[in-house]
Amino acid sequence: MYTGQYTCIEIFAKAKEDGGKVRVACAGKAGMEKEAKTTYYTWLKFPVEMDAEYEIDSKTCDVTLCYLSGNERMLETGVKYLEQEKPGGTYFVADEEKHYDSPFRETYHFTPWKNWMNDPNGLCWFQGHYHMFYQFNPHGQKWSNMYWGHAASKDLIHWVHLPVVLAPQEEILDKPDELVGGAYSGCAVAGEDEVVFYFTRHIGPHKDCEETQQQQWMMKSKDLIHFTEEECILKERPKEASFDFRDPKVVEIDGNWYMVLASAVKGKGAILLYGSKDMEHWSYIHPLLTEGSEGIRCFECPDFMELDGKYLAMGAWMDHHDEHGRFQMSRYYIGAWKERKLEVESSGWFDFGGNCYAMQSFEQGGRRISIGWISDFYGEHVERENGAYGSMTLPRQLHIKNRKLYMKPVEEVALLKGRTLYQGAKENVSLERIKGNAYQAKIHFLEDTRFSILLGKDGEKEISLVNDENGLRIATKGVKSQGIRFAADVDAVADLEIYMDRRAVEVYVNDGEAAGTKLFYNSSKEGCFLLNAEKPENIGEAEVSLMKKI
Ligand code: FRU
Repeated sequence: MYTGQYTCIEIFAKAKEDGGKVRVACAGKAGMEKEAKTTYYTWLKFPVEMDAEYEIDSKTCDVTLCYLSGNERMLETGVKYLEQEKPGGTYFVADEEKHYDSPFRETYHFTPWKNWMNDPNGLCWFQGHYHMFYQFNPHGQKWSNMYWGHAASKDLIHWVHLPVVLAPQEEILDKPDELVGGAYSGCAVAGEDEVVFYFTRHIGPHKDCEETQQQQWMMKSKDLIHFTEEECILKERPKEASFDFRDPKVVEIDGNWYMVLASAVKGKGAILLYGSKDMEHWSYIHPLLTEGSEGIRCFECPDFMELDGKYLAMGAWMDHHDEHGRFQMSRYYIGAWKERKLEVESSGWFDFGGNCYAMQSFEQGGRRISIGWISDFYGEHVERENGAYGSMTLPRQLHIKNRKLYMKPVEEVALLKGRTLYQGAKENVSLERIKGNAYQAKIHFLEDTRFSILLGKDGEKEISLVNDENGLRIATKGVKSQGIRFAADVDAVADLEIYMDRRAVEVYVNDGEAAGTKLFYNSSKEGCFLLNAEKPENIGEAEVSLMKKI
């Protein structure tokens, strides 16, 4: 395996038995050996020479992720992933095209190279690049002790993968049967020449309880490749808060720094508010808002900002089931900022599709942009070798209009538009076999009309978008989410923008009045788009185009 311009090999390895080692050697020269733990994966870093042939011997270990890193232009080139022919076999530079091409992976939505991803973290723009960090388990397609993955982009659309940034605490890795946790969600505040990160470190028994410890930490970076040592800035939660005390998001309002945190107060989901003058010392103020509805363990990943002359808070309702059977929905609240509380004037669901969670936003160039985690809350994920659990929604630009949160994919998404498959009006549309199953559809209705759009079919399994006497909703058949009403809160449908990307679909209604994200695992790479309107004469315009992969 040839190192090219890279100077480091990073390997995540777990020893199969005591003394399990990874050995990295340059052809014809003495090698370097590092021992791995038997209890949990060890993150091993081997300095290597550039432009040299290397061999990796990891027969006594189980390796779940391996890449070349450490070149001078990391933000442009990203890491180079290495794969093995078979466990214990020879390593080679992975063929990206082949690796990504699966019916069970998106083609133009961000996914990790492989394994588990959840929340977007530390979203920011810094010196010409957008950065996205994310909750990552490099060792498998299930949630486990958390690392921070990292990717960068110049246009919010095409991302390069960067080295893992944060790892779980050593105590957890020594006793993974007793303890769980790691580097949980957090945010970034980008200045001109430095970015400050805030995040939670969690440690505790496998089932969260009073012994669970969640503390807030801080670190900084001047290039987003090297990071300062982490520093604990909030050790204790306020007395009134539950043991859920995490996911710091920092925002500047009227020249003051505030941090919102996920928690619950007296059994009700609450967003806690902290204040600071220097961004390092924080003191508790009170809950920014408390949600009256029952059954919310806490607000996960809260966010708070000023937008379009109003104040907007958002958060994900942990453990909650809504009246339609949807699980863990995310809610937004619009209101006024009074006495350092949010006086709520209106609220709604962030995403009606049931598979969008833990969204985070940031501001850049006057735009408020949010990315959400496409999560699988109905057990629909199909695990395949080298697969990825979790992806990110398209970046969405947020606005407040008519007391509602509006969101549309950022304009850069237009870069992805490919060949047009259909363009027409006043007739139903029947595209039965769309090669690649990655497309965009835009429909304008002259008048609200009943319709159904078949967006995916795999044997008996189906996903459709339906508008009838019960309103607009995503409906699935033959899959675990069947029977749940993924209903959009709109009175009529004038415009639809649909983004199908193999296992995920995002639907935007009425120029951003509602957005819905739903997973649908189609075992074929061929898709369909069948629009059947009761009054086709009401279709003012319809267009279906392929989307390019990223
Ligand atoms: C939300 C969440 C966060 C937490 C992280 C852990 O999905 O539970 O509250 O910080 O994921 O991975």
